[in-house]
Amino acid sequence: MNGVPSQSRNAAIYPGSFDPMTRGHLDVIERAAAIFDTVVVAVVVNPQKREPLFTLDEREEMIREAVSHLPNVQVTHFRGLLANFVRHAGATVIVKGLRVVSDFESEMSTALMNRSLSGVDTVFLPSDPKWSFVSSTLVKEVYNLGADVADYVPPAVLNVMRSKRPEPRPA
Ligand code: PNS
Repeated sequence: MNGVPSQSRNAAIYPGSFDPMTRGHLDVIERAAAIFDTVVVAVVVNPQKREPLFTLDEREEMIREAVSHLPNVQVTHFRGLLANFVRHAGATVIVKGLRVVSDFESEMSTALMNRSLSGVDTVFLPSDPKWSFVSSTLVKEVYNLGADVADYVPPAVLNVMRSKRPEPRPA
């Protein structure tokens, strides 16, 4: 787990499960990278969710490839409390994307808890409407049922998905 570079005045952490990273995630990262000096994409280890489709290494590697055009973006992982990671990393802000209003309802209390624990605020970036219906969960569901997910994930992710299940099943 790396910290943010010491010269970064505005260092953002973008945390998530990224199982897998979607085009919506990438859009948020690109826009955050244009606002903050540094963006650290932090993949959570052992999320309190079902067994992930991708290993931690796979998720980190796919994200690294997808953000390789963004020089101020780094990729790492963290365990346990995000608030602890954010403090130890020296981040000045947490970034979260909001796709729909229901995201805001849960993210609001999370943001307040994270600020209470770490003193670090959360900045919300609205999802591009183009991606507002795209979530990792839905991508996995339609992929598992045979859909082509090329429109919803970056090419780096698609390649790994195709290597796990070479061809989409016909409808
Ligand atoms: O992509 P996700 O699954 O929506 O990301 C959720 C994530 C990783 C940001 C959230 O589960 C998290 O912060 N986990 C770390 C544990 C933690 O700090 N929990 C308390 C939050 S107030």
